[in-house]
Amino acid sequence: MQTRILVTGAAGFIGAFLCRRLLEEGSCEVTGLDNVNSYYDPGIKEDRLRMLREADPEGRFTFVRGDLCDAALIERLFAEKGFDVVVNLAAQAGVRYSIENPKAYVDSNLVGFFNVLEACRHHPVKHLVYASSSSVYGGNKKVPFSESDRVDSPVSLYAATKKSNELMAAAYSKLYSIPATGLRFFTVYGPMGRPDMAYFKFANTLRAGGTIKIYNMGDCQRDFTYVGNIVEGVVRVMANPPEVREGADGLPLAAHRVYNIGNSRPVQLLEFVDTLQRVLVEEGVLPKGYDFEAHRELVPMQPGDVPVTYADTSALERDFGYKPSTSLEDGLREFARWYKDYYRC
Ligand SMILES: NC(=O)c1ccc[n+]([C@@H]2O[C@H](COP(=O)([O-])OP(=O)(O)OC[C@H]3O[C@@H](n4cnc5c(N)ncnc54)[C@H](O)[C@@H]3O)[C@@H](O)[C@H]2O)c1
Repeated sequence: MQTRILVTGAAGFIGAFLCRRLLEEGSCEVTGLDNVNSYYDPGIKEDRLRMLREADPEGRFTFVRGDLCDAALIERLFAEKGFDVVVNLAAQAGVRYSIENPKAYVDSNLVGFFNVLEACRHHPVKHLVYASSSSVYGGNKKVPFSESDRVDSPVSLYAATKKSNELMAAAYSKLYSIPATGLRFFTVYGPMGRPDMAYFKFANTLRAGGTIKIYNMGDCQRDFTYVGNIVEGVVRVMANPPEVREGADGLPLAAHRVYNIGNSRPVQLLEFVDTLQRVLVEEGVLPKGYDFEAHRELVPMQPGDVPVTYADTSALERDFGYKPSTSLEDGLREFARWYKDYYRC
């Protein structure tokens, strides 16, 4: 029998690429769930779903348009399908949006995730994999960020919900023997990405002749991770659930782990902007001779922002023999090529 997989957030950036990869591998049935909300242009989500239909000539992909907060729907779905593996990527993402719209994060990231955990409790799965985030490290000074570092000083509600997900999963894993792995993704970018993220907004703004705002006067570092590398990491993790073992007290131990997935090569924001600008010109999105200096403004740090993200990925390498490796230039070039084609520049 084929492995039955649920991917929530399937119309999202990472979810769509994960589903495509799973369909290409050919030995599983994939159910994708997404409410296709309008946090950013839902048109791009519909296009990702179109991509998935095209990647599925054998009809192994089922899409469910629904909300994680609809507990009855989630319960019914798990009861009907009997999933082997669940990958929870659906969430309200974005740090800045959480400053003005906290409720969306409590709904999707806390109530929604609780519904997934409850469904896993009543319909046991072999592995629950879920998205956490590098934002749990908050303003930590020690770099690179390691899974064993303290993460109890979030600087946004988004980060707090992601850390809460890790705690909720650990408790459910311990109480109900659910093998679960949380993945702390580090700034994911690539083609068909999220229009709310800086690289995408910069491309839109520059193309429209506007001025891009570079936060913290350009003095911040991000560990940018190419979407294909994230998907490879997720697929490897999915196939290797933590073992359910008994503790000295005779009760099951939490079969729960957390890993960083990042490039482990942080880049200065100004270097990132320079590389993006160069590939946008080289790939024909922007004209040669574009006056970038006239279209950039250095602005102070924003609430919720952190000065640096930098992943220690040694645990991922040790346990799964994998380390993201796509260079920023190659990844941004893939984005620029897709952008040119998609927006017919
Ligand atoms: N992209 C990154 O840089 C990054 C970094 C760290 C963590 N993450 C996490 O990875 C996951 C995937 O991120 P992404 O970049 O693909 O984001 P995304 O916004 O593109 O994808 C999330 C999808 O979930 C859906 N969704 C949101 N709330 C829902 C709900 N209540 N019910 C059903 N569907 C819902 C949205 O419509 C969207 O399509 C998220 O959990 C995000 O927090 C992403």
